[in-house]
Amino acid sequence: MAAAYDAIVIGGGPGGYSAAIRLGQLGKRVLCVEAERLGGVCLNWGCMPTKALLHVGEVMHAAQELKDMGVEFPEPKVNLAALNKWKGKMVDDLVNGVATLYKANKVESLAGVAELVDATTVRVKKADGSTETISAPNIIIATGSEPVSLPGMERNGKTILNSDDSVTLSDIPKSILIIGAGVIGLEFATIYKRLGADVTVVEALDHALGDTDVEISTLLLRILKKQGINIHLKTKATSVAVKGAKVSASLQGEINETREYDKVLVAVGRRPRTSNLGLEKVGIKLERGFVKVDAQRRTNIPNVFAIGDCADVPLLAHKAMKEGIVAAEVIAGQAAAYDPMAVPNCVYTDPQVATAGFSEEQAKAAGYEVAIGRFRLAALGRARTVGTSDGMTKIVGDKKTDLVLGIHIVSPTAESMIAEAVLAIEMGATVDDIGLTMHPHPTFAESVMEAAEALHGRAIHIVNQPVVPTPAAR
Ligand code: NAI
Repeated sequence: MAAAYDAIVIGGGPGGYSAAIRLGQLGKRVLCVEAERLGGVCLNWGCMPTKALLHVGEVMHAAQELKDMGVEFPEPKVNLAALNKWKGKMVDDLVNGVATLYKANKVESLAGVAELVDATTVRVKKADGSTETISAPNIIIATGSEPVSLPGMERNGKTILNSDDSVTLSDIPKSILIIGAGVIGLEFATIYKRLGADVTVVEALDHALGDTDVEISTLLLRILKKQGINIHLKTKATSVAVKGAKVSASLQGEINETREYDKVLVAVGRRPRTSNLGLEKVGIKLERGFVKVDAQRRTNIPNVFAIGDCADVPLLAHKAMKEGIVAAEVIAGQAAAYDPMAVPNCVYTDPQVATAGFSEEQAKAAGYEVAIGRFRLAALGRARTVGTSDGMTKIVGDKKTDLVLGIHIVSPTAESMIAEAVLAIEMGATVDDIGLTMHPHPTFAESVMEAAEALHGRAIHIVNQPVVPTPAAR
């Protein structure tokens, strides 16, 4: 008997739903199995609710700052019930949007927990305890990732939180300790600080934000500290003990103390969700805990694909979406491959950080002789019009060829500005190409052009340092 579906997608997050929708667009019969809600972590507990909370915090902060600009408000106050209701509706609308797209593209959806029985069969356990067994010639695993916990600091959802708990905001703590200065730690530090909490962040390493360009992460930390967030590098929380409604935490490193906080947020990374999926039974290989895949996102079993957080770093929604589209097109017989020159990375602090391509350290380690162009926001008219002067754009170029190797931005709207950097790197643009490209004035995007010009010693709005000549002038 012919299978009812051409493909089964396990997981309805950004990776899984993009794959399912593209399969539908290509005329394939597809079933998406999702254990919780369509949209996955991104829509329900991650990207979307955190960005909504960050927006609220930013508006509150802006309302306070407007005093200097001649506009006065009474002290802004948060109505938590109204905020949670608005955020919940926004998330529901997005989730319903995915369901609508499924319908329009004839993607079928099944609620339940899926497990591979063999390379073409999936068993789904539904909420009522019943099971359904379905076959398809292609399977895409898109099960995502989950927060890592620290031994002795396991989440209780009330005082010891992970990122999923933190978007729910049952109350605004007076004080919070955040363990880990990665992207989750710093975004939540911004949210809680803006909503009025006393925020302390501890990070075990001597820098924040993983392998982000160190000059950029150092600049961000300086700005966040100026905003009143306490950040301690080379510091660990050695123990955490719940004491009634509070948590006592001992810190060791740059700061050594034991004190009570209302809440502790553990933000020390996420790990791929690969257990209880039947992967071992089917013989699917893992590497460093991730499902091992090739450029077409096939596992070692050619008709089983894996995409998104469960299939290697970086754990980013846009990487998952791209992989989902690649896997769908491969299943439909097209010549697609996942081979990006640069994956953008955005951190939604205030100001935002966005990066693409090599950091200065990575470019040097890869053997490049680097040339650096910097342009600081203090010299950017557009930044001054919104009362900002902290931030910069940094371009890492190859001294020999002038190729753009990486662009790193600390600025309002960095999230959008970084698209230019990705395009430049994908198309093999030179730093000179960016400098010669007319950018609109006044905009934040001008800082990318000015940083490119600075690399060649000809930025207009700063005093240039002695630098690398353009290829034409050599
Ligand atoms: P992360 O791996 O980025 O950062 C965790 C940090 O915790 C590291 O710097 C690590 O050194 C530190 N750490 C680990 N153990 C520690 C300890 N005992 N004491 C003190 N510090 C400790 O992980 P994070 O921030 O949890 O994010 C997980 C993933 O989620 C990231 O890979 C990211 O790609 C993704 N994500 C992306 C977002 C975005 O694109 N805006 C937003 C949220 C998450």
